[in-house]
Amino acid sequence: MDQDSTQLEDMPCVFDNAPIGVFDSGFGGLTVAREIAKALPHESIVYVGDSARCPYGPRSLDEVGGYVQQIGSWLVDHGVKLIVIACNTATAAGLAEAQRTFPVPVIGVVEPGARAAAHATKNRRVGVIATKATVESDAYTKAIRHIDAGITVFSTATPRFVEIAEQGIRMAEGPIENYTSLASKVYIRPAFQEIAREYLEPLRRCDIDTLVLGCTHFPLLKALIGGVVGREVTLISSAKEAARDVAEALGRRNALAGIDREPRYDFFTTGEDIDEFRSFGSRVFRTPIDNVAHVDLS
Ligand code: DGL
Repeated sequence: MDQDSTQLEDMPCVFDNAPIGVFDSGFGGLTVAREIAKALPHESIVYVGDSARCPYGPRSLDEVGGYVQQIGSWLVDHGVKLIVIACNTATAAGLAEAQRTFPVPVIGVVEPGARAAAHATKNRRVGVIATKATVESDAYTKAIRHIDAGITVFSTATPRFVEIAEQGIRMAEGPIENYTSLASKVYIRPAFQEIAREYLEPLRRCDIDTLVLGCTHFPLLKALIGGVVGREVTLISSAKEAARDVAEALGRRNALAGIDREPRYDFFTTGEDIDEFRSFGSRVFRTPIDNVAHVDLS
């Protein structure tokens, strides 16, 4: 056995069982949290849903950047080992500043979505739907073109999709495990289809072959959106890709949780209605949510 392999075998296994902090303006970031839980089943998660200030989309980037600092500091005080900004608007508004400020790694959702889109497109025509603030920040266009400057990006703000996504969570019945699948019919109703057609027809006419769901609420609307843009357009959500980035970042730092660990999931909402967060959040997270508490960040 050579010197190097002896040294590797003698190295102690290092684990970090501190939780991962994840946040969003509401329920949308749970689409990211559930992918993290799926990819990293031993990791504990502390989730903050800023329901009291949802939606972020119509607010200014400065204001949302302030929320990022506030929630990030709270998560750091709660001992998280990494922060995921599971909101595109908040990523566009505050990722860079958060990475400069916090003593733990911070991962956003724009770059992972941009990367997935750049890899998926064949005709190099990519659509992006997102909140008004995200579209105005130009974050996706820059991120996609940073990977491949030859890609043409068509962006549209679709603010009513956040409203529809949140409404649908309230209207849904039935088993939570089916709720966010493509088979979910809760969003397939004429009023929603009308709005979706209005937003998406112009993008379809741009001959895009890939569409980025640039808001973490939008994976809930996959069936509705897919029904309008058609099967030939690949829908990209950054959740899976972001979860992969989290695994990689923790692995690189020897900071993964021990494999004998039962994960713990703790949820905090800035909203007043804990029961509502528990019941609707369970639908999006696809697992019953037990530990929910109110947090006052103001
Ligand atoms: N989920 C947030 C995002 O990804 C937006 C929802 C909101 O407007 O608060 O951008």
